Amino acid sequence: MSSIAKAGLVVAGTLAALAIGGVVYVGSGIYNIGADDHHTKIVLAIIEQLRERSIGVRARTTHVPNLEDPTRIVAGARHYAALCVGCHLAPGVTKSDIRPGLYPHPPNLAQEDIRDAQRAFWTVKHGIKMSAMPAWGKTLDDAAIWDVVAFVRQMPAMTPETYQQLSTGHSG
Ligand code: HEC
Repeated sequence: MSSIAKAGLVVAGTLAALAIGGVVYVGSGIYNIGADDHHTKIVLAIIEQLRERSIGVRARTTHVPNLEDPTRIVAGARHYAALCVGCHLAPGVTKSDIRPGLYPHPPNLAQEDIRDAQRAFWTVKHGIKMSAMPAWGKTLDDAAIWDVVAFVRQMPAMTPETYQQLSTGHSG
């Protein structure tokens, strides 16, 4: 047998052993799927890469409307206060009952600078599997989702007072 053929056999054998090992590992039930425990490093690395590539490939063709429009930002604040604040917090809103038990942990959008509007729009519209992030496209139309994205981008620079005014529609 040629050395290339031998090397091929070794690679095929290794891959088969890995595949069988993976099936046995999953079948054994050893992996803890509970949300009160972390993923192992390798599982986390695979999921993160899957999420990054999946969203990156799908989000880049979306047309971005004018996100500086104040009426959009006001409308987005209302939706955010009704639908998102419990998981993602807001200026002056620093805890919630649902947040501590969520894994993956939702980012604190009062602090996170969302520069990539296309990714944010895609994530809000389609959600993320096996995380608590819902697909809001089932309840909001595209215009309303852009309103929320426009608002979320303003949040890190916003005072708690401004958030209160925008989200409730009146001051104080
Ligand atoms: C029940 C909890 C929950 C609710 C409600 C929720 N989210 Fe999320 N969201 C998550 C989780 C968890 C993640 C992180 C998922 C991950 O890391 O894979 C996430 C991720 C995101 C991201 C991606 C952030 C980033 O850094 O890439 C955005 C943007 C987002 N959510 C916006 C929203 C908006 C806007 C709403 C309301 C319309 C909302 N979410 C409602 C749980 C929630």
